[in-house]
Amino acid sequence: MTSTEIISDGTVPDARAVFDAAQHLNPYPGYQRMRETPGPTTVRLGDTEVNVLSRFADCAAVLGSQAWGHGNVDRLSPFWDQEASLPGSFIRMDPPDHRRLRALVNKAFSARMVADLAPRITALVDDLVDRAVTAGGLDVVRDLSAPLALAMVGRRLLGVPEQDAELLRSWELAVARGTDPEPLLSPEEIAARDTAGASVVAYLAELAAKRRAHPEDDLLSRLVAVEESGEVLTPAEVIGICVLLLVAGMETSINLVGNGILALLAHPEQLALLRTQPDLAGPAAEEILRYDTPTQFTMRVALADSTIDGHDYHRGDGVIVLMGSADRDPDVFPAADTLDVARYARAGRAPRHLGFSLGLHYCLGAPLARLEASTAIRTLVQRAPGLRLAVDPADLTYQPSVIHRGLRSLPVELTATTA
Ligand code: HEM
Repeated sequence: MTSTEIISDGTVPDARAVFDAAQHLNPYPGYQRMRETPGPTTVRLGDTEVNVLSRFADCAAVLGSQAWGHGNVDRLSPFWDQEASLPGSFIRMDPPDHRRLRALVNKAFSARMVADLAPRITALVDDLVDRAVTAGGLDVVRDLSAPLALAMVGRRLLGVPEQDAELLRSWELAVARGTDPEPLLSPEEIAARDTAGASVVAYLAELAAKRRAHPEDDLLSRLVAVEESGEVLTPAEVIGICVLLLVAGMETSINLVGNGILALLAHPEQLALLRTQPDLAGPAAEEILRYDTPTQFTMRVALADSTIDGHDYHRGDGVIVLMGSADRDPDVFPAADTLDVARYARAGRAPRHLGFSLGLHYCLGAPLARLEASTAIRTLVQRAPGLRLAVDPADLTYQPSVIHRGLRSLPVELTATTA
């Protein structure tokens, strides 16, 4: 039974059926059905019922409103039990704590720092694509997007040396899977997340201590040194921020490049357009964030009584905000189910998508994510004219997470001619 059938029978479906990994290949028809069904979709998450917001206007209204936030994380415990095993981070905080921590990180995470990373990103991507051209193929996830994210978030931000990159990737995968709502996880996945979380916290604490004594050219060193209005980040806060950057920044950027290349391969005319107009790489990355976004949903709790689309919410009520659906809403995006790499390049531009969220929690790493993705996509498309999928599309598999949408692997062939 698909989520579409379950939703239409009038009963409250289990969230496991709605966010079923079996729909990973294409969750969008199910989302469309939710959008077309009047009112919110109510799902059962553990022993709680929660509304899923699938239309753009409702998602944007919640994300952009101060009446919605995270409240006391205890109230979100059916969804977010991982807070118990991972250090708290400001992505789940409300003002004033959120404001204080985000401002401190912003200071270390400046626009200039991101711009300074551009030559490194270009050089690394050139090198990875050169190797792939010589080899005649690559796995876009294993050989391009993951090494790029590990080098930027892992090494340049967190200061993790190259020899530990694989270890970091294995921890990151277990922790990222564990950020799905708790009732959607198996006991094994919860145990794997908790073990990986403890390992990564211990590892980063040791690394932070080293950087306190001997600063290096990485964000971790700047974080341990950061001061604002006489305020210093505590060691626990530094670790919380690092784990946040790892979880929020690595899986997402890896998935954006993979989802993007797959979308382009499925739309050869868009791939051809991008090949002839490399300046469209930036708008194309934006369009991929709208079309097949790496972060499918987030959650919010009503901090005050609030009405969304005629439905009354009371303080403490939780909602799932399904950005993956909002960004396919035809009321906002004409031909919403069509990949159009020039959409964000045309005069008047398309409305802002929700792939990086909106409001107070708007993605802090968006400039870095945009730079990484546009460089990787432009270089691969330009340098490898004969880009094509090396496996049957039906054999592609996705990571098990439902919040994060991304391929486990994307093998492609590269040839010297535009076959
Ligand atoms: C394609 C890549 C990325 C996507 C799709 C993405 C998406 C998001 C989304 C949707 C949120 C908001 C969640 C919410 O409102 O509940 C967010 C927040 C955040 N992201 Fe990203 N992100 C990406 C890359 C990155 C990178 C590379 C970093 C840093 C290295 C990063 C760091 C953060 C942080 C720190 C927050 C929390 C901001 C806050 O709570 O104030 N992200 N991201």
